[in-house]
Amino acid sequence: MEQKSKEIQQMFDNIAGRYDLLNRLLSFRTDVRWRKKAIRLAEIKSGQTVLDLACGTADMMIEMNRRVGGITLVGGDFSYNMMKIGQQKFSDGLFCVSDAHNLPYADNSFDRITISFGFRNVTDKPKGLGEMRRVLKPGGRLCILEFSQPEGPIFSRLYRLYFTKILPFIGGIISGDRKAYEYLPDSVYKFPKRDVYRKMILDAGFADAQFNPMTFGICDATICIKGDA
Ligand SMILES: C[S@@+](CC[C@H](N)C(=O)[O-])C[C@H]1O[C@@H](n2cnc3c(N)ncnc32)[C@H](O)[C@@H]1O
Repeated sequence: MEQKSKEIQQMFDNIAGRYDLLNRLLSFRTDVRWRKKAIRLAEIKSGQTVLDLACGTADMMIEMNRRVGGITLVGGDFSYNMMKIGQQKFSDGLFCVSDAHNLPYADNSFDRITISFGFRNVTDKPKGLGEMRRVLKPGGRLCILEFSQPEGPIFSRLYRLYFTKILPFIGGIISGDRKAYEYLPDSVYKFPKRDVYRKMILDAGFADAQFNPMTFGICDATICIKGDA
């Protein structure tokens, strides 16, 4: 694993114990709404096998299980500490240590893949997308739920103030790791712009990429479709 990826893994291992509390607090629980919408857009059906990559503490898995019955859910993450908490919260799920750059699954294994607030951390994004496409069945859907940069001059200024100053301050106090909460806005502002992002998805071999911005563009659920061929 490359150095940057190792540091990210370590960072999540360190903040795992406070992650859920901070998630709810710093997003004013909006993340719950975003997750529900992403699950709806992923069009998950009973009988399907779903991988929740970068599953962290399993919030997405719990929500999927609540909304769609009869699915086989696999959670994969490279932070053992995050996944351990996930396993305690959701004992019905299957969990497997997984690095997005090198997924430990056979080709064409999953009907759906979700990755929520994890893709921006994948250091080699084209490689990660290639791996996700590989393990997705033909015709399958990948749903990438991720922070995005809002549009509109006033809102984007307020958001930048909150995201770059207030959030690292509160996150730092509660988690004891201010650097981790400085990394969050940094990773969002460094995330590829929409046209580059779209090209990256299509270059990885996906047949389509559909953007679904939410809450003034703070967040986006991108649906990537693997062609039938
Ligand atoms: C912000 S948390 C999101 C967790 C969860 N999906 C959620 O919605 O709350 C990001 C997660 O991505 C995981 N992650 C980051 N890079 C990864 C990689 N290359 N492979 C697998 N997991 C990764 C981290 O360990 C962490 O658990």
